[in-house]
Amino acid sequence: MKKTYGNITVCIYETYDEMSEHAAAFFADEIKRAPGSVLGFATGSTPVGMYRALAGMNKQGEIDFSRVRATFNLDEYYPINKTDAQSYYYFMADNLFDHINIDRSVIHIPNGQAADPAAEAKSYEQQIAAAGGIDLQLLGIGANGHIGFNEPGECFISDTHVVTLTPSTIDANSRFFDSPEAVPKQALTMGIKTIMSAKKILLVCASESKAGILRDAVTGDITPKLPASILKLHADVTVMTDAAAGKYL
Ligand code: GLP
Repeated sequence: MKKTYGNITVCIYETYDEMSEHAAAFFADEIKRAPGSVLGFATGSTPVGMYRALAGMNKQGEIDFSRVRATFNLDEYYPINKTDAQSYYYFMADNLFDHINIDRSVIHIPNGQAADPAAEAKSYEQQIAAAGGIDLQLLGIGANGHIGFNEPGECFISDTHVVTLTPSTIDANSRFFDSPEAVPKQALTMGIKTIMSAKKILLVCASESKAGILRDAVTGDITPKLPASILKLHADVTVMTDAAAGKYL
């Protein structure tokens, strides 16, 4: 089922697997249309099915990642080692990059081991600009409405920056760690302007626990208290959900 809310197109699929297949096809179309695209990737449990589908399509010879100009991930914990199984660096290799024919040198993920995280954030922003900006950015949405790690706050922060994670995000993400104490307290994340500068955005959202926040983001007021609500100001946003997350839309 397809619906529009202002500039946002919402596609609701019965199951998570169906949503994942369509999200993968959306990325595949972009790569076929422009093999040298700059792609923005996201982590979290929601895109895992989409990454699996993309890897399958690559294996079948349906899509070719070899000419992708650059990839930029939204965020990374800070501090964290690349070898840590909970790092987004590790996640991306494990879920996507190890399974596709991409040139490793074009992959960018904020460095969770940087000695100077503020300098790393600045340099990351410059690298995105140098690549000519992002053609298609994938997003998930946090339980509190965050995109990347742009947490709810009093204002939107524009550029890639260091952020202190909220207790609710630490709690939500602690399911992947041994304990809440093991979750890094900070992260490096693209800012709201960085995300909004992407030419096209695809947000994936699944499970009933996200239904309320997704409805508020898509139909409510634009406010930094719900960072994903800013997407209403973007000209080309597609939201794909399973039936559970889309139940209020
Ligand atoms: C993390 C990531 C976000 C992601 C969110 C939702 O906090 N920084 O980019 O959207 O998790 O994750 P999940 O898909 O597991 O609900």
